[in-house]
Amino acid sequence: MNNFSHVQMGVDYYPEHWDRSLWVEDAQKMKEVGVKVIRVGEFAWSRFEPKEGLFDFKWLDDAIALFHDQGIQVVIGTPTHTPPRWLTEKCPDILPIQANGQPNHAGVRGHRCFNSESMDSYGSRIVAQLTQHYKDHPAVIGWQTDNEFSLTYCHCESCNARFREWLQNKYSSLEQVNQEWGTVVWSGEYNSWSQVTTPIGGSPFQNPSYQLDYYRFQSHSANIFQQRQIDIIRHNCPQHFITHNFHSYPQKLDLYPLGENLDVAAFDYYPNTSPNKTTTGPYSGALSLDITRGIKRRNFWIMEQLSGPPGCWMPMWRTPYPGFIRAYIWQAISRGADTVVQFRWRSANIGAEQFWHGLIDHSNIPGRRFEEFTKVCAEVNALSSTLAGTVLRNDIAILHSHDQLVALDIQPQSEGLDYYENIKCWHRTVTKLGLGVDVLNWMEHLSDYKIIIAPSLYLMDPAVATNLASFAEAGGTIIFTHRTGVKNMNNVCLMEPLPGLLSACAGVEVEEYDPIGNDPHHMVTADDISYSCSQWCDILKPTTAETLAWYADDFYAGKSAVTVNSHGRGKVYYLGTHVDESYMKVLIEELVEAHDLMIFPELPEGVQVSVRVRDSQSFLFILNLSREFQRIPLDSSYESVLYPGIKHPNTLTLEPYGVEILNMHNNH
Ligand code: GAL
Ligand code: ZN
Repeated sequence: MNNFSHVQMGVDYYPEHWDRSLWVEDAQKMKEVGVKVIRVGEFAWSRFEPKEGLFDFKWLDDAIALFHDQGIQVVIGTPTHTPPRWLTEKCPDILPIQANGQPNHAGVRGHRCFNSESMDSYGSRIVAQLTQHYKDHPAVIGWQTDNEFSLTYCHCESCNARFREWLQNKYSSLEQVNQEWGTVVWSGEYNSWSQVTTPIGGSPFQNPSYQLDYYRFQSHSANIFQQRQIDIIRHNCPQHFITHNFHSYPQKLDLYPLGENLDVAAFDYYPNTSPNKTTTGPYSGALSLDITRGIKRRNFWIMEQLSGPPGCWMPMWRTPYPGFIRAYIWQAISRGADTVVQFRWRSANIGAEQFWHGLIDHSNIPGRRFEEFTKVCAEVNALSSTLAGTVLRNDIAILHSHDQLVALDIQPQSEGLDYYENIKCWHRTVTKLGLGVDVLNWMEHLSDYKIIIAPSLYLMDPAVATNLASFAEAGGTIIFTHRTGVKNMNNVCLMEPLPGLLSACAGVEVEEYDPIGNDPHHMVTADDISYSCSQWCDILKPTTAETLAWYADDFYAGKSAVTVNSHGRGKVYYLGTHVDESYMKVLIEELVEAHDLMIFPELPEGVQVSVRVRDSQSFLFILNLSREFQRIPLDSSYESVLYPGIKHPNTLTLEPYGVEILNMHNNH
């Protein structure tokens, strides 16, 4: 298979949007600045198949030939995100049906039901034709399936039929469905399979077990849809890699099964350019990158990266500040991106996305942003072989779960309790200490790690409970929080003390709880320091655990809020409340010391570090993702790999959006 792990730059290119005379110029200029790869094709179905059964790849052949002449490689996106009008007119069953019974229409995009039979046959045919045509093309190296999968919330006949089949597969009988979902409530019992439909009407107050299964079914539908394409691509193009461009987390779509049969995951990265987001943006961005790396537990691609002010879907955001584009490209690489593909070469002068700006403005005169991009291309190309094969190795993991996200959204637990926002808090705390962290599917093997942070594992799978308990027994440290072990996997409350299956390993039981939401509350530690807490208070009764903090307010003042239990050779923390980030920091610092991990204790706000390693070599990336000059204390003197010849004594000063990459060995 073609190697997909080069550290290199690319651009998204839409030859069908431009006059042919521009193709040559564009290809030459790309070569000149050092672009190595383009992505094309993902919306071009009406050009690939202008009429039913009439296929035309000549135009793309011509375009690709020009890029190939310049030594530029090509990834092709399958065009199934945008079925052409002749097709949706002929086969309206392709159009997803909304909860109110109305179809989506052609003209925007994503107007295709994953379960439509017409979509299956026409979609498979265009993918087969494309892959047949390009299987031996020397410039083509890989494929992107569709574009930015998300749930369709479709209620068409076919989705209804497939949903029933999916349920019949999961449950042994309709009686079992009634039993597991608890449909007796509000006389919701089903007497025949024909009564089981998708949640038409879309009320959020329908049975929560049913709603969760509908979400799972939809994720499964996306998966089957993608798998058909993967099978065709593998069959026709066994030497090409396959990826998908995931986007904007959190997604209700389950990323992990979709990633399973891809060779590499990709992410579309649009960090927020607003000056008001400078304190949160770099951290939520870092989390997205870490989630993407976790999809396949390896390096990934950025398939679209911010190149100018985005707009059209909303009023335009601010233009990227000088250095922003470059710094965020390096941030992506520092957290495991190998290829970074910029969206897009030139801003569209036609169509709905005219103001989602590319590297070059409508005028086609390369400006400030293009100059910055040119600089990064040169830097990335200069370091490409140095960084080749380097990966991240972390001792801490945060568990992330689509099931928890969806279930907690179906039944919001208290004001302000947001599953993904809570993950962000933990991730930000760890990142601010300069610690690397992996973010993984909660069902993954964990033995590579020392510390696991597991916010709100609300639904509990007995196999995961066992896995977590053995992780602790073997010497690992786990942090559990409020709303853990509440339900079984069918979204039904357990009739046992919380945290349910984890009570024994946490050494604690929840006596009662108080969904405090945003009402101010506090807890106090043994050294008499008070921290604010919010969202929720589990009033804890330690069985074997020791108390680390006590509530300070309300009728439960003096009761345990935070505990730690020795379990086997490890330690299990239980945080009954959403603790303030300052307490998260204190806790992580303690754990880091116990596990002897390296931190950067005085990292200024907005500065991020991460390390890519290969054999005995390690490269320390330091990024100033802020608009101020920042000074970063270093534990010794290091040599720069980004600016050869420069050595930094015990401190490093970075300009706004400045970047440095240091060689952590040969440092004296
Ligand atoms: C992505 C999408 C691109 C483009 C871009 C800007 O979500 O994949 O096709 O639309 O955003 O909106
Ligand atoms: Zn459908």
